[in-house]
Amino acid sequence: MSDTENVNVLVLLGSLRAASINRQLVDLALETAPDGVRLQFFDRLGELPFYNEDIDNDDVAEPVVALRQAAADADAALVVTPEYNGSIPGVLKNAIDWLSRPYGNSALKDKPLAVVGAALGRYGGQWAHDETRKSFAIAGPRVVEDLKLSVPSKAFDGRHPRENAEVAANLRDVIGKLVAETG
Ligand SMILES: Cc1cc2nc3c(=O)[nH]c(=O)nc-3n(C[C@H](O)[C@H](O)[C@H](O)COP(=O)(O)O)c2cc1C
Repeated sequence: MSDTENVNVLVLLGSLRAASINRQLVDLALETAPDGVRLQFFDRLGELPFYNEDIDNDDVAEPVVALRQAAADADAALVVTPEYNGSIPGVLKNAIDWLSRPYGNSALKDKPLAVVGAALGRYGGQWAHDETRKSFAIAGPRVVEDLKLSVPSKAFDGRHPRENAEVAANLRDVIGKLVAETG
């Protein structure tokens, strides 16, 4: 049995769009997870209320409880996101804010986290990915800074990312190295 057996990776997606390219990257991640690694896709970021300290109490909304529980159950996290206006899509930033509390005691505290994704622009969403790393690094997880994958979506040429061997290999590599960080 390898020492990455039974590793649980939380997957978060920064797009709510049904036909999202980044959702397709999540599909690919789920399909190519290394043996023994469980990728747990938390597909409910759109249900979270806007972060508000007034409602972050013992009676916090159920989707927040579910998110924090999924984060607590995870050994690592993979974040897959596009770029909106040069930065982090609001739905993902909101999730980061929920995951950053209780202050100093995030459910992802010290757990390795990697950020990947695709966007239309020629840098493939690099600004959003850099800012997502910056924000999560403040929120509590241990961001693995050198695990990077920012894909210009024209690389897919309208096809599913699983048909792009280079992207599939790079994504598999990121997941493998992220899992190795849990050891
Ligand atoms: C509100 C909005 C802002 C966007 N801003 C950027 C941007 O700053 N950089 C970029 O590369 N693409 C930008 N795009 C294009 C997205 O990269 C493209 O729509 C991408 O497919 C969205 O990801 P998804 O397919 O996973 O939903 C933007 C799209 C929207 C809807």
